[in-house]
Parts: sequence; C-alpha cells; structure tokens
Amino acid sequence: MEKDLSSYRKSYEKGELLLKNAPENPMELFQKWFYEVDNYFVEDETNAMTVSTIGLDGFPKSRVVLLKRYTYEGFIFYTNYNSEKGKAIAKNPNVCLSFFWHGAERQVIIKGKAEKIAENLSDGYFESRPRGSQLGAIASDQSKVIESREALESKLQALEQEYEGKEIPRPEHWGGYIVKPVEIEFWQGRANRLHDRIRYTLQEDYNWQVDRLSP
Ligand SMILES: Cc1cc2nc3c(=O)[nH]c(=O)nc-3n(C[C@H](O)[C@H](O)[C@H](O)COP(=O)(O)O)c2cc1C
Repeated sequence: MEKDLSSYRKSYEKGELLLKNAPENPMELFQKWFYEVDNYFVEDETNAMTVSTIGLDGFPKSRVVLLKRYTYEGFIFYTNYNSEKGKAIAKNPNVCLSFFWHGAERQVIIKGKAEKIAENLSDGYFESRPRGSQLGAIASDQSKVIESREALESKLQALEQEYEGKEIPRPEHWGGYIVKPVEIEFWQGRANRLHDRIRYTLQEDYNWQVDRLSP
C-alpha cells in the first residue's frame, strides 16, 4: 500500500506572534490564546491536549486527555493513576503536553513535571462529574487487557445497581495530575513557512527567559 501526500500543502496566514506582544509570564499568553481559540476559531474541543510520557519500556507514548483547569502553577488533567501513563509518571514525572489548534494555526508545547494534585481537589472534580462518568471511572481498569466489551458493560450494570440512590465515592486510583511547566513554546503558523516560535524557559530565579526560535 502506498499513498503520496506530497501535494498536501497549506499556507498559514491567520496570525502573528511578536516578541513585543509576549507577556513576561507564559501562562498569560496561554490564557489569551486559549480564550481566542475558544471564542473566535472553530475548535471542537479546545481543551483536548496530547500528553506524552516516557514509558517503563523506554518508549515515549502520547495520548489525548482533556485539560480541566489551568492556573499560574500549571495544567490539570484527570485520569486513572494505575493506567499506563500513571505508571510512567510514577517512574518519570517529566512529561510533554501539546495542543494543536488547527483553526487558529497555533501549536503550544509544554515540558513540565507531573504530580498528583491534593485528594480533596480530585474529590471535588469527581463529585462534579455525571454519575455515568463516575461509575465508568470505577468500572474501568484503564489500560488493562479485558476479556470483552460485554464484560465491561456488565461490570457497569452491576455498579449501577450497587450504587443506586447512593453517593459514588471517588476511587483512590483515579484523580488529577498537575503539570508544572519548565518550558512553553508558542507556535503561530505564518506564510512561506516562516512561522513564529516564541519559547519561554523557566530560570533558577523563577523568572522566564523568552527567546524567538527559528522556524
Ligand atoms: C478527545 C479525547 C479525550 C480524552 N480525555 C481523557 C481524559 O481526560 N483522561 C483520560 O484518562 N483519558 C482520556 N482519553 C483517553 C486517552 O487518550 C487514553 O486512551 C487513556 O487515558 C489511556 O491511556 P494510557 O493507557 O496510555 O494510560 C481521551 C481521549 C480522547 C480522544
């Protein structure tokens, strides 16, 4: 099988990113870009991001998760702590997050350190989820091999009966990670492949060094 994609080409012309407009703190630029993408460009899930970890097998692995909160401190997502990514993070907390906002021709790449958030914060988010998602989190031994789809569905049904009319507690192995950034790169597509790339690097004094990179 072979398919030639060499004629797939696109000119990026929707914006620019100049150093003079780059704030001192990259989280403020992230907030601005996120707001603009969410409000002015067609993006189905602005908060969908790729998280890459270094696996126990030595290979990097990337998968999409949903960003659920961001603050000056970092980026929070929720998952199963016993999943493949959870085990990878326990061994090596260095991760990479990335967003590709196709409609805005923007990419953001974040290197950072992942750590579990406080249990009460995970409790709060778990409580806010619909019951179906809460039960799904209990039913799924994320990343484990399972016998069949039917086995998963009957597990969910049994849980629905068990918890009928009752509050569903957050399983201990399910919760949030915060990724505290050490480097954030903002990429804005430009014409003729002369894209804008602005990189923030966290310094020892906790100030951010800002550099323009060659595309
Ligand atoms: C749009 C989208 C959103 C997702 N959001 C999450 C999420 O927030 N948390 C999560 O654990 N998995 C999420 N997933 C599933 C993950 O991509 C992945 O399959 C799962 O976390 C297991 O990954 P692992 O086996 O590498 O740990 C999402 C997938 C997609 C496509």
